[in-house]
Amino acid sequence: MTEAKLEAWLDETRSFAPSPEFAKQANAQPTIYAEAEADPVSWWRRQADRLVWHKEPTNTLEWDLPFAKWFSDGTLNASVNCLDRHVANGKGDKVAYHWVGDPEQDSRTITYKELLDLVCQTANALTELGVKTGDRVAVYMPMIPEAVVTMLAIVRLGAVHSVVFAGFSADALSSRILDSDCQFVVTADGAFRRGTAAPLKPAVDEALESCPNVKAVLVVRRTGGEVKWVDGRDHWWHETIDHQSTSHTPEFFPSEHTMLIMYTSGTTAKPKGIFHTTGGYLTQVATTYNQVFDVKPDTDTCWTAADIGWITGHSYIIYGPLINGVTQVMYEGLPDSGGKDRWWKIIEKYKVTILYTAPTTIRTLMKWGSELPKGHDLTSLRLLGSVGEPINPEAWMWYRENIGGNRCPIVDTWWQTETGAILISPLPGITATKPGAAMKPLPGIGVDVVDNDGNSVGNGEGGYLVITHPWPAMTRGIYGDPERFKETYWARFPGKYFAGDGAKRDEDGDLWLLGRIDDVMNISGHRLSTTEVEHALVGHPAVAEAAVVGASDDTTGQAIVAFVTLKLTTDDQGKDQAEVIEELRQHVAKVISPIARPRQIILTPELPKTRSGKIMRRLLRDVAENRKLGDVTTLTDPTVVNMISELMDTSVTSDE
Ligand code: WTA
Repeated sequence: MTEAKLEAWLDETRSFAPSPEFAKQANAQPTIYAEAEADPVSWWRRQADRLVWHKEPTNTLEWDLPFAKWFSDGTLNASVNCLDRHVANGKGDKVAYHWVGDPEQDSRTITYKELLDLVCQTANALTELGVKTGDRVAVYMPMIPEAVVTMLAIVRLGAVHSVVFAGFSADALSSRILDSDCQFVVTADGAFRRGTAAPLKPAVDEALESCPNVKAVLVVRRTGGEVKWVDGRDHWWHETIDHQSTSHTPEFFPSEHTMLIMYTSGTTAKPKGIFHTTGGYLTQVATTYNQVFDVKPDTDTCWTAADIGWITGHSYIIYGPLINGVTQVMYEGLPDSGGKDRWWKIIEKYKVTILYTAPTTIRTLMKWGSELPKGHDLTSLRLLGSVGEPINPEAWMWYRENIGGNRCPIVDTWWQTETGAILISPLPGITATKPGAAMKPLPGIGVDVVDNDGNSVGNGEGGYLVITHPWPAMTRGIYGDPERFKETYWARFPGKYFAGDGAKRDEDGDLWLLGRIDDVMNISGHRLSTTEVEHALVGHPAVAEAAVVGASDDTTGQAIVAFVTLKLTTDDQGKDQAEVIEELRQHVAKVISPIARPRQIILTPELPKTRSGKIMRRLLRDVAENRKLGDVTTLTDPTVVNMISELMDTSVTSDE
């Protein structure tokens, strides 16, 4: 559909009715909303029956705002819920993962029983290395089966995994290890990207120079080749795990036992260690996986195309799907590893039925054209999902027509690292869908859109997204910093969780998410704060001052644009500007991650500031997005913005 046609269609029809085929067999029936609304807390207690409890909880919610406890007197083991229960139910031979490597010749199929054996062996090995209940273990791994095994083995022992995306730098890794005092690290020698081996272990070695408390590093051999070795500290995975016993008797932990920490960017330079506890988190990821994706364990093959280094990988590659006992595809590579139709080949080969990915990937695949998916049989697909950023109607329609063959419902799912699980999404077979809208809070979830004073806005109006009552998978806080937790999420609108997103209710009362309203940027679905990137830039000896904004970008949603003033007396003065810019871009990639590398850096002798000395980021955003400039009268020197606009026009954009 062309853009004009789409607009006309949207004006006229506005929504797709729920699919009748889905309605007949859907896991969730229309009465579900009313049932949950009548008494959300007891509704959630009934959902907790999806888990295998060692001791059934009699408590449901204890709410001491903003600190929640769910199912607190129950005990359970997360890995038993993912694995042992299915093996005990005779499902041991069912495939848990079809793992697909980045190089096309690499693949591996792992059943539930095999996965349980590997997890038990790894739990035994970790115990031997000294990992105990409550210890934090950093996981810095590519998308290989051992990453899943490691995470499940850690929670089996009641230890806490802190997974750091393997694209993060040594600096980012060490600050995360230090913040939660991880004493163990699991990693790999390297990772494959488009068939080429890229080293991973050197980043761990560098990070650990500033982490004296790390006692042991477990290393999977993935790419082969030389690695630096620290005797006594480093252990090869195969030498440590292969000889272990495949039996391991699990212990059971209280529902509120911490199971994972996931660092995410806030509005300051320091990432926040968002932590989740066991019973509530697992209840809600299992429930949402069942209801939003409508999974049928006997017939579905599900593919969440995300990385385990992000919350989507935790909730919907590991815990939600495994608790539901489904078969999945897990893919190591990039969308174009081995060719631009790699995804479609995978879907065709494994007969994937449910695909869950991010708008940025959809837009990339869309750029590569509809001929590629047309060349493959994608008729196995029956449901499509989107997550991570607002999806534009064009991408949504392309996804529906070209991938979903106009028959698959699309669930646009809104949630965050902090929420642990999906909170806003259509339910297939029940909710109508609109291209670009996340539609409705899920059963058991209270959502509102409020104005500056915290009053609900009416239909057709926009405001701030808030969550009005506690939910089981909500984060229990920021690791080691309860005050920051209160201030960040609970102070803006007393009694309500402030998500940091803008939202709109349309004329029908349906929800549209409008993106972050704070200094958090969303680059290809990755969260980064403007301050974090500014901090990295001013850490470079040549930089005097830096201001960073997220500018809209056709492919990545937002892209980083940095305005930098250099120090006057520096050796770099003689250097070519392009060289300095490239050096700064590399510097940010090294300090944070290649995903934080600015698309554009504009060197400017001055930054626009208010008379009180604040950098006018709003104006810089206008400049970066080529908008007409707003009010500049509060600036000390209004000519500065014009100068910057001109510099912007002549700057070179990198599309790396
Ligand atoms: C954004 C990812 C619009 C939002 C699971 C949120 C979305 C941030 C959607 C959380 C969506 C996520 N529509 N925006 N369907 N899903 N977001 O913590 O701005 O990496 O605050 O969690 O992504 O990102 P995070």
